[in-house]
Amino acid sequence: MASSLHPASSSPASSTVLGRPLALVRWLMVVAAMVVIIVMVGGITRLTESGLSITQWDLVSGVLPPLSEEAWQAEFDLYRQTGEYRFESGPAGMDLEAFKFIYFWEWFHRNLGRLIGLAFALPLAWYWIKDAIPTGYKNRLFALLSLIGFQGALGWYMVSSGVGTDLTDVSHFRLSAHLLTAFFLLGGLVWTALDLRALARDPQAKPAPLTGPAMIVAGILFVQLLLGAWVAGLNAGHAAYDWPLMNGKLIPEVNFSQGVLWTLTHDPFLLHWLHRWWAWIAVAALVWIARRVRKTHRMASVTVHSAFGVMVLLGIATVLSEVSLWIAVAHQLTGALLVASLAWAMHSDGQNALEASRA
Ligand code: HEM
Repeated sequence: MASSLHPASSSPASSTVLGRPLALVRWLMVVAAMVVIIVMVGGITRLTESGLSITQWDLVSGVLPPLSEEAWQAEFDLYRQTGEYRFESGPAGMDLEAFKFIYFWEWFHRNLGRLIGLAFALPLAWYWIKDAIPTGYKNRLFALLSLIGFQGALGWYMVSSGVGTDLTDVSHFRLSAHLLTAFFLLGGLVWTALDLRALARDPQAKPAPLTGPAMIVAGILFVQLLLGAWVAGLNAGHAAYDWPLMNGKLIPEVNFSQGVLWTLTHDPFLLHWLHRWWAWIAVAALVWIARRVRKTHRMASVTVHSAFGVMVLLGIATVLSEVSLWIAVAHQLTGALLVASLAWAMHSDGQNALEASRA
C-alpha cells in the first residue's frame, strides 16, 4: 500500500514530501509495543527489589552478564555495599544464588532498553538515508530518539540515588521521572504513528493538533500517574490493605508536622489516599474524552473505556492482595496501555478539530 503512494518513480522531490509513511507506522508501532513491554519489565524489576543489583552504568560492556564465578562474586560484593543489602536483603539472608535472580531482572530491563534504542536508531538512519521520511517528520523522529537516550540516562540517574548511600530504595522522585518519561515517549510514538497513518491515507493530511480538552485530560491523568509512581516508589501500597476505607477510615490520619509541601510529596498514607480518590477524577476526564470521539473513532473510545476500567479494578486488587507481585505488575502494564489508548483518543479529538476547521 505504501508503494502505491510512493511517488519516487515520478519525482524525487515529491518522494521526500510523501516518503513511506506506512512503513514508518509499522516500525513506530513495533517500538511502541517494545516500550509497553519494558514498562512491564520495569514493574517486575521494582517489585522484586532488583533495581539496585547492578551498581554501575556500562552502556556497552554491560550487555553481557558476569561470565565466571569470580565475576559474579565481584558484582555481588559491589551490591553488598548498598544500603538495600546492608539493611534489608543482607539481614534477610540473601546469598549469591538469590542475588543472581535479582541481577537477571535489572540486566534484562537494561538490555531491553538498549534494544529499543537500536530498534529506533537503526531504522531511523535507514529511512533517513533512503529519503523515506515525509517532510516535517525528521525533527519529530529525532526528538523521539533523543527522548529514548534521555530515558536511559534518567534510568541511571534513578539507580544512582540508591548507590553509595544508606538508602534502601531509589528516590521516588527519580523513579516517577523515569516512569513518566517512558509514558510520554509511548504517547509520542503512538501519536506520530497515527499522524503518519493519516498521511498514508491522504497525502494532504496535516498532523493532528492538540485540543484544549485533550490537554485538560492529559493533565488530569498526569497527576494520577505521578501519584501512582510516588505510591509505588515509596512502597505506599502497603499503607493500607482495605478498600474503599483505609485502615477502617475514610480519611487517614496524616502527620503534617514536617510542613504541607513535604507531606504532600512524601507521606505514604496521604499519597495512597490521593491516588485512590483522584482516580475517579481521572475516570471522569477519560469518559469525557472517550465520549467526544465515540462517533468518529469508536475503537479509540472503546479502548479508553476498557483500559481505565481494568486499571481501576487492578488498582483495587493491588490493595486487597497486599501488593501481590503479578497484580501490581498488571496494574503497571495496564497503565502503559491506558496511556497509549489515551494518546489515540486525544489524536482522534485533534483530527475531529481539523475536520471541523475545514468544514
Ligand atoms: C485511572 C486509574 C489509575 C491509574 C491511571 C493508576 C496509575 C498508577 C501508576 C502509573 C502506578 C505506578 C506503578 C504502577 O503502575 O504500578 C500506580 C501504582 C499503584 N496504584 Fe494506581 N492507578 C489508578 C487507579 C488506582 C486505584 C483505584 C487504586 C486503589 C484503589 C490504585 C492503587 C495503586 C497502588 C496500591 C499502587 C502501587 C503498586 C505498587 O507498589 O506496585 N490505583 N497506579
